[in-house]
Amino acid sequence: MQTPFSFGRTVRAHHFTNRENDTKRLRSNFENGINTTLISPRRWGKSSLVEKVADLVNSKKTVVVCIDLFPIRNEEEFYTYFSNAVIKATSNKMEVWMELGKKYLKQISPKFSIGIDPINDFEMSLEWESVQKNYKEVLALPEKIAKEKDIKMVICIDEFQNISNYNEPELFQKRLRSEWQHQQNVTYCLYGSKQHMMTQLFEKQSMPFYRFGEIMYLQKIEEKYWVRYITLAFERTKKIITPALAAQIAQMVKHHPYYVQQLAHLTWIATEKTVDLKTIERATDDLLNQNAILYYKDTENLSSTQLNFLKAVASNVEALSSKEAISKFNLGTSANVSKIKDTLLKHEIIDIQNSKVVFIDPAFELWFKKNILKQELFKK
Ligand SMILES: Nc1ncnc2c1ncn2[C@@H]1O[C@H](COP(=O)(O)OP(=O)(O)O)[C@@H](O)[C@H]1O
Ligand SMILES: [Mg+2]
Repeated sequence: MQTPFSFGRTVRAHHFTNRENDTKRLRSNFENGINTTLISPRRWGKSSLVEKVADLVNSKKTVVVCIDLFPIRNEEEFYTYFSNAVIKATSNKMEVWMELGKKYLKQISPKFSIGIDPINDFEMSLEWESVQKNYKEVLALPEKIAKEKDIKMVICIDEFQNISNYNEPELFQKRLRSEWQHQQNVTYCLYGSKQHMMTQLFEKQSMPFYRFGEIMYLQKIEEKYWVRYITLAFERTKKIITPALAAQIAQMVKHHPYYVQQLAHLTWIATEKTVDLKTIERATDDLLNQNAILYYKDTENLSSTQLNFLKAVASNVEALSSKEAISKFNLGTSANVSKIKDTLLKHEIIDIQNSKVVFIDPAFELWFKKNILKQELFKK
């Protein structure tokens, strides 16, 4: 029988649980033309949520375009990718694409190349020199098409923080913002996993994207929903888990969506009929072993005070710059502590949640406790 759990790709339908309020809110923003910024650490479910809402609102009258900036390294690539995605989303006919490209990118006059499979091998290319002078045409493209067709367009851009690595990032952001904020028929949903960078882009008053729209901090999924999700998934596949053990799975990885699914899956494969605590223990070991090489590397790259800092975090010390903590964990000076904190935040190893320093990756934390602090993960 196939595993009823799913991780490592966006989830939908019966693999998607809860997020009812988030879905409602994002859907209402899409339908009411409210720009949204969606922020959470990676693998908490941003892409899955955006895809779900995109499916819900996508229609003849509302076209959703999804763009992932992960592979896009500079402004030039951005314009090409953006304009291609926008025109391809509005029709499935190549003639229409060419017509739109010619009509609305007049100054740029794009070139079209067509391969054997016209749909996938179709590519509109823009000459950089001309784009630099006429970039406004590219940014105005969705609004023009939407107006002409009398539709609404929603443009979802994943890994949006990548634009801060482009040349002259603030100038580029100004360009985007000043074009996008006047558009009537186009709504933007900008999301990303590098929290630190996303917050800089959208929450700093001096930055172009300040107050661009509503900022949503996506949360993890609450335990009661995980319990229901996990017990039902076992039931569907003729295996049994008690609600208490399902809760144990969720707690083990601190309700982190990706890891809950992965740990539930590992527990599920290790179970013949009925889950017991031993199975979850073995599944947890399995999970840590799978990632061990990565965690060794991460740990090797830490300086000794950074390592000490993480030891303190893993030992649940809250006042990290207190005299006691500094001397017990050998952290140097309190100025040093705040420097370490900033570096680890920037490298996405730790996060601050409810004004507490926590590991961003709950499985790394478990591995760290077991292998560096030599703790027993399960009480004997
Ligand atoms: N609503 C959900 N219900 C159940 N599992 C989810 C949900 N959202 C995310 N997940 C789990 O988390 C993983 C990462 O989700 P994804 O949407 O790719 O996150 P992100 O875009 O934030 O990195 C998925 O593969 C899935 O295992
Ligand atoms: Mg994603």
